[in-house]
Amino acid sequence: MTFLYSESEREMDCPKEVVIWNYFDHEHVVGTHYKNYSKVRVLAEEDGWCLVDRAYKLPLINFATSSVGFMHLVSPNHIKSFQMGKLGLLMDQDIFFEDLPNDRCRVKGTYRLEVPNGLGFLQPLWARITKRWFDLTWDEDAPMRLRRWKVWKLGFRDFRGVPYINEKKAKPPNAEVRPYPVELPTPKITPIKGEGVSRLFEQSEEVGYGEGG
Ligand SMILES: [Fe+2]
Repeated sequence: MTFLYSESEREMDCPKEVVIWNYFDHEHVVGTHYKNYSKVRVLAEEDGWCLVDRAYKLPLINFATSSVGFMHLVSPNHIKSFQMGKLGLLMDQDIFFEDLPNDRCRVKGTYRLEVPNGLGFLQPLWARITKRWFDLTWDEDAPMRLRRWKVWKLGFRDFRGVPYINEKKAKPPNAEVRPYPVELPTPKITPIKGEGVSRLFEQSEEVGYGEGG
C-alpha cells in the first residue's frame, strides 16, 4: 500500500477547547457546511469519542461520497480520527492543538490516506483537496467559534443564554472569565442520534454573524 499525505495549519483567536467543542458539535455540520455536507448521523458516542456517518461532496473534484468515521479525543491537545469511505479506503486524520498566549490556539490537521500501490501519483491532488477542505470548513467554522468564545466570556451557558441579558440587568463589571470546559458528548436538540439530520437547502443567501455580532 501507498500513503497520500498532507497537513494544514492555522491559528484561531479562541482557546483550543472551543475548537474541540466545534469538532464534536455534529449538529452544525449540515447547516454551517451545507455546501459540502448533505447528511450526518451520530451512530454512537460517549465522553471523548464518537462514531459518525457523514455524506458529503469533496471540493475540486465535486465527488459525492460518504464515510463512517471514529473520532477520539486522545489528549487535551490531540483528536484522532479514522474514516472509512465508500471506496473502502481508510483515512487517518490527526488534529493537534497548541495553546498560544492571549487565549489563542494553533490547530494542525493531518490527512493520511492509504491507497493501493500505483496510486501514489494522486499525492498532489490529495494535497490540494484536503488543503481546500481544511480551509473551506475553517472559514465557515471560525465565526461560530469566535462567537461562542465571546458569549462564553459574557457568562453564556447552553440553552440558558447569558444571565445578565436574560435578567435585563447591566453588564457586570470585570466579570472573571471562566476557563472553557471540554464537555462531551455535546447536548443535542435534533434527531442526529436517531435517523440523522439532512441539510435543508443546497443554496442560501448567507447573512453570517456580521462584524462584532
Ligand atoms: Fe464545522
